[in-house]
Amino acid sequence: MSSYKIPVPNSKHTFRDDLFKGKVLFCTGGRSGICYKIVETMMSHGVDAAIVGRDAKGLLESAQSLERSTGSKCIATSADVRDPEQLGKAVKETIDKFGKIDYVICGAAGNFLAPIDNLSPRAFKTVIDIDLLGTYNTIKATIPHLRQSHGAYLHISATLHYRGLPYQAHVSAAKAGVDALSNVLAAEEGPRGVRSNVLAPGPIGNTEGMSRLTPKGWKPENDIPLGRIGDTSDIANAAVFLFSPAASWITGTVTVVDGGEHHIRQMS
Ligand code: HXC
Repeated sequence: MSSYKIPVPNSKHTFRDDLFKGKVLFCTGGRSGICYKIVETMMSHGVDAAIVGRDAKGLLESAQSLERSTGSKCIATSADVRDPEQLGKAVKETIDKFGKIDYVICGAAGNFLAPIDNLSPRAFKTVIDIDLLGTYNTIKATIPHLRQSHGAYLHISATLHYRGLPYQAHVSAAKAGVDALSNVLAAEEGPRGVRSNVLAPGPIGNTEGMSRLTPKGWKPENDIPLGRIGDTSDIANAAVFLFSPAASWITGTVTVVDGGEHHIRQMS
C-alpha cells in the first residue's frame, strides 16, 4: 500500500521560529490579502517563497516588502493560473532559484457579485477557470516536485457553497470543485507522502473580497458567534499548523476558520 513512512513529530517543534527553515513555498495569489499574510507568516518561520500572479509590478513590490519584513527570500514570478505554459515557467523559475518546492498554496481567485440571469457563460467560465482550473493547473505543474519533497498542498476555498449564497453561483461552483479536487489529490498522493488540505476562510477584514463582496451596512458581529470579523493572521496561523509537521497525519480535510459564521442561523 503506502510506500512512504510518515514520521511522527514532537509537538515541542511546532511553531518554533525556524519551523520552515530550508523549505520552499510556491504560492499563487500571494500579492495581497490572505495569501500575502500566509506567505509573510511562513517566511517569518524561515520559508523561502515564490509568489505567482498576473500583475508583475505589484508582485515584485510585494516580494520586496515580504523580504524586508521577514529576512527570508522571495521571488515574484508572473503567470496566469489559467495558462499551464505560464505556470510551468513559474515553477521552473522557482526550481532554478531555490532547487525544490516543499509547499504549495493554491490561492489565486477571481470573484464578483452577479445574479445567475446576469451571468454570461463567459463570466461563469472565467471564475471557474481562475479558481478551479487554475488549481488543477497548479497541481499538475508542481506535483513532480512535491513527490520528491513529500510536500503539502493548501487550497484556499470558502464557506459560501455550504449553503446557497445569492449572486455567487460561479464562485460557489468553483470552490465546491476545489474541495473535491483536494480530496482526490489527498487520496492519490497520500501513499507518496504528499498531503492536501483545504482552508475555508469566513469574512476577513482588509481584503478585496470583504470590501467588494459584502453588502453595505452588514454587521458581522450580529452573524458571527465569536463576535468579530476575521483577521488575515487568523488564516495564516491555521496555515502554519496545516503545513507544520504537527499536521503530518492530516490530509483530505477542510479547516473552516470563520468564527463559527457558517454554522449559525439567526432567530427572527
Ligand atoms: C457580471 C461580470 C462582472 C460583474 C466581469 N464580468 N465582472 N459579469 N458582473 N461584476 C464578466 C465580463 O463581462 C466577461 O463576460 C467575463 O466576466 C470575463 O471578464 P474579464 O474582465 O474579461 O475577465 P478577467 O480580466 O479575466 O478578470 C477576471 C475577473 C476579475 C474575475 C472578472 O474580477 C479579476 O481579475 N479578479 C481578480 C481579483 C479578484 O476578483 N479577487 C477577489 C477574490 S475574493 P462577457 O460575457 O461580458 O465577455 C474571493 C473570495 C471568495 O475569491 C469568497 C468570497 C466570500
